[in-house]
Amino acid sequence: MGVTVDGKEVALFNVEGRYYAVGGRCPHRSGPLAKGKVERVEGKPAIRCPLHGWLFELETGRCLTRPGAGVPSYPVECREDGVFLGAPHGEVSGPSPSGQIG
Ligand code: FES
Repeated sequence: MGVTVDGKEVALFNVEGRYYAVGGRCPHRSGPLAKGKVERVEGKPAIRCPLHGWLFELETGRCLTRPGAGVPSYPVECREDGVFLGAPHGEVSGPSPSGQIG
C-alpha cells in the first residue's frame, strides 16, 4: 500500500506478517512501487517496479537489477497504537519522513 509520511511517498508491504517500507517512487522513472509485485530473491522479499521491472530488495532498498541504484528503506515498528516508521536508510534527500502511519 502507498502512504504519505511528512510529504514523502512510502510503499508499505506486509510480507507474511512482517512489514517493510521503502521509498514510494522508483528512481528510474518514478514508477509507483506500492503497485509493484512482491517477489522472493534468494529467500529475501523484493518489489518489482510495475513500469519497467527494476527490482528492489525490501530490507535495504537496494536495486537488484541496476547496481548503484536504490530507494530509501525504513525500519517499521508495529505497536498497539499503530504502525511507525523510523528514520530512513539509503538514498535520501531532505528531511526525515519518519512518523506514524496508522
Ligand atoms: S519506472 Fe521503475 S523501472 Fe522504470
